[in-house]
Parts: sequence; C-alpha cells; structure tokens
Amino acid sequence: MQTKEVKSEAAKAKKSPSDHPSGDKRFKVLDMTMKRNQYRQDALIEVLHKAQEAFGYLEEDVLLYVARGLKLPLSRVYGVATFYHLFTLKPSGAHTCVVCLGTACYVKGGGEIVKEIEQKFGIRPGETTPDGQVSVMAARCIGACGIAPAVVFDGTVASKQTPEVVVNRLAQYQKTE
Ligand code: FES
Repeated sequence: MQTKEVKSEAAKAKKSPSDHPSGDKRFKVLDMTMKRNQYRQDALIEVLHKAQEAFGYLEEDVLLYVARGLKLPLSRVYGVATFYHLFTLKPSGAHTCVVCLGTACYVKGGGEIVKEIEQKFGIRPGETTPDGQVSVMAARCIGACGIAPAVVFDGTVASKQTPEVVVNRLAQYQKTE
C-alpha cells in the first residue's frame, strides 16, 4: 500500500516536472506549449509569445520558468525577451492590471472593461497612469474562461469582473499612493 502511494507520487512528479508551485493555471498553458514543442530550445520565441499572451507581459518569474523548462540560461531568455519589440517586460506601474481579451472574456465584457479604463484613466493596454500607480495590459486567454471576464490584479486572478468594479479598484490603487 505504502509502496503504491510512493509510486503514484513519483508518477505525478514525473508527469508534470515543471508544475509551478503557485498552482497558477497560466503556467499550465506554458507547460503545454513547451511540451508540444518537445522542450526544444529553438521554440523559445514561440514559448515567450505564448507566455505574453497568457500573462500580458513577461515577468522575471515567467522568464525563469521558461528558462528552466527549455534548459536555457536565464540570460539567453532575457536577451531574447528584451531584443524583440513584440515582447513586453514587467511594466513600470506600482500595480498591474491585466484584462483578459480572449474570446470568452471578450464576449462577456472584457472589451467594455478596457473601454471604461480608457475613459476614466486615459490609458490603453500597454500604458501606465501618469502618476506611475497602475499599468494596464491585455492578455489573450489566461486559462480561466469559466470565470470570464477575468482580470488579473497584481498577479491575482479576479473572476466575473465588471467595468465599474475594475475602475473602482484602480482608483483605490491611486488613492493609496
Ligand atoms: S478567454 Fe479569458 S480566460 Fe480564457
């Protein structure tokens, strides 16, 4: 019995060697992309592209995860991420807000959320409020379609968001300056 349990734990560990300890589903999306490319190092750009779609931007944590997955030095992954203009590194705002604009979230109001942010704060995805408090980004499916529209505030996924709730939260960030 005990041997069986030990075995199944080992099997689990083998099945997903690179599972992220946070349990964040977006890392699963990355796992799938790396697996589909058989962890080939020349798939780096495609994997980074997927990472940006899932996270909205490339944070160091994500770059590290990709480096480990593809067995590449972090410096190489960092170099590629900074060289190509299509990649965005962590934005400069004190807080980040990533609005999912994947199909499920878009049809359930993700687009309205972006419009409301633009109206209230005058910034579009990829921009930061002039006071440096909030950077807004867009993602294309963060793997949480069941709770659409989803918005990620400072790395935490929030479900079924409305334009009003989102702008209120961003306004709070500005007040706590
Ligand atoms: S479309 Fe937004 S989580 Fe999938």
